[in-house]
Amino acid sequence: RTTLDYPEQSIGAASELAVGRTRSFTYPDRSSPCVAIRLGESVPGGVGPDGDIVAYSSLCTHMGCGVQYDGEARVFKCPCHFSMFDPGREGQQVCGQATVDLPRIQLSYDSDSDELYAVGVQGLIYGRQSNIL
Ligand code: FES
Repeated sequence: RTTLDYPEQSIGAASELAVGRTRSFTYPDRSSPCVAIRLGESVPGGVGPDGDIVAYSSLCTHMGCGVQYDGEARVFKCPCHFSMFDPGREGQQVCGQATVDLPRIQLSYDSDSDELYAVGVQGLIYGRQSNIL
């Protein structure tokens, strides 16, 4: 059995991500869309100078539709069957058809360069048997 390591991938500067805004990227490969958000308050798993930056796979765990972040409600909403996930609570499923939380992209933060990095995935990305293909 082989265990593959997650890549370390820059996702840009923390200071360029304003509170309430999102940044799209792919991780751990180009076919896995993800989104980072600055929530404006420290949350579990949050990184950056204020511990408020988190990131998730943007594929719904129900049937793989793309979830969208609603900055007013501060939840991810799935347009297909209306599942909702809470980015401030580690992607916890709030309501809807999904039964699994949104996979969390683990981030690290280099305070010297202000750079954010994706370094791993917690949970299984929709449609995969393994996050690293
Ligand atoms: Fe998201 Fe069904 S695919 S709720």
